[in-house]
Amino acid sequence: MTPIDTRPNVRVAQPKRICVVGAGYVGLTAAACFAALGHEVRCVEQDPGRLGTLLRGRIPIYEPGLEELVGAGLASGRLRFTGEMADAIAGASVALLCVGTPPREDGHPDLRQMAAAATEVARAASHDVVLVVKSTVPPGTCEALELLASEAADPGVRVTTVSNPEFLRESQAVDDFFHPDRVVVGADDDGAGALVAGLYPSAWPLLRCERRSAELVKYAANTFLALKISFANEIAGLCERVGAEATSVLAGVGMDQRIGPSFLAHGPGFGGSCLVKDVSGLIATSEALGYATPVAQATLEVNTWARQRVVDKLRHALGPLGGRRVAVLGLAFKPGTDDIRDSPAIDIVAGLLEEGAAVTTHDPVAVAAQFAHLASEDPYTAARGADALVVATGWPEFALMDPARLAAAMAGRLVVDAVGVLDAQAAARCGLEVIALGRPSLDAFHPVVVAPLEWCLDAELV
Ligand SMILES: NC(=O)c1ccc[n+]([C@@H]2O[C@H](COP(=O)([O-])OP(=O)(O)OC[C@H]3O[C@@H](n4cnc5c(N)ncnc54)[C@H](O)[C@@H]3O)[C@@H](O)[C@H]2O)c1
Repeated sequence: MTPIDTRPNVRVAQPKRICVVGAGYVGLTAAACFAALGHEVRCVEQDPGRLGTLLRGRIPIYEPGLEELVGAGLASGRLRFTGEMADAIAGASVALLCVGTPPREDGHPDLRQMAAAATEVARAASHDVVLVVKSTVPPGTCEALELLASEAADPGVRVTTVSNPEFLRESQAVDDFFHPDRVVVGADDDGAGALVAGLYPSAWPLLRCERRSAELVKYAANTFLALKISFANEIAGLCERVGAEATSVLAGVGMDQRIGPSFLAHGPGFGGSCLVKDVSGLIATSEALGYATPVAQATLEVNTWARQRVVDKLRHALGPLGGRRVAVLGLAFKPGTDDIRDSPAIDIVAGLLEEGAAVTTHDPVAVAAQFAHLASEDPYTAARGADALVVATGWPEFALMDPARLAAAMAGRLVVDAVGVLDAQAAARCGLEVIALGRPSLDAFHPVVVAPLEWCLDAELV
């Protein structure tokens, strides 16, 4: 990974006093990065544990480059953390809402944190304020929040909402903030839109539009990214059957500039706090309006299949999994983060336990409280006595493991590399049998070649 530029040589023309509500992945990154751009940032966090960590100068999440940037912001005096909304909003003309929008059972996001945050800002403000919705929300939310917040505000205080969705990726959040593909500002009020656009350096690519469009940009973009992953997984499954290599096929597809290589990767499916939630949110919003979204539906269906097939492969190779010992390497939903929200690796562990397997786990950073008793301090300890090993998160550390040590630790030979990080040949030299996804299965030859052969012979006869 390229080193992260934690002191970007760029400043905004007119720094502002900004309030950031919520110090999670999005809020903390935004707070530190806006301070680095020259703004004066007060970040309010309601969780006492998280706030305490921040006040001690540490950060409560694992995000490369962020702790240094927070440190620089604190040292410059342009970044400060507080637990009091009144303190955070005093003198700030904008409040960035970066609170959680977790999924509900019915696919809609739970917007209660948003409503509470908007109301708290409005109640505490003694001057006009623009609420900037950075959290991912369905179209129409900004307008609803503006009504709610205006009700809560003092009569002389005007509250306006602007949509400014966040596109950062965990594990490269700081880099994404400073090098955005685009900044989207959705405003129905020109002055409020200009104020929010002016928070960013003028050279950054900017899309100005209406609030509902900006809100939908985020849902649509995440659905398209998820779709690319599900498509890659569907093609990977076909590769196994026709005897092709998914890595080569997807590389060849992605080299087409109209398609592009990113997110065209097969594996155990997409996860994290955003993709499943946002595709589900897009489907739920559409359904509520009587509009069908079959492409988005299929994206989720393929993702469920992609997760299940890792356990299916183990069962296929080992037989019933009851009583078998399986080591799962990786818990985070992707490398470079400690986030386990909706992680495919967690589903794999749960699926194995459900089938009666004895599971051990190891992740370099992530901790899963529900599986804490299964955790080992390193991959070799996790692999001790295992009948099989699964690599479920693509941490670079796993590519560097010593296959001879793994083979010596394990009781069995089977390794399912769900994320394609292992050197299968090196592992094979140590006696391990690596099953990777999207590689030809042994019986791939027959059905594929026989049919074209028949067509060739038919053609000759004509
Ligand atoms: N995590 C990502 O990679 C990512 C990327 C883009 C967009 N988003 C979206 O951004 C939003 C936030 O995501 P996140 O991952 O940062 O969530 P998070 O759960 O990590 O952080 C939210 C934080 O807000 C705090 N909070 C909630 N209500 C508050 C209040 N009233 N006052 C002060 N603090 C409050 C919580 O305690 C928590 O620390 C979500 O809508 C998410 O979909 C997330």
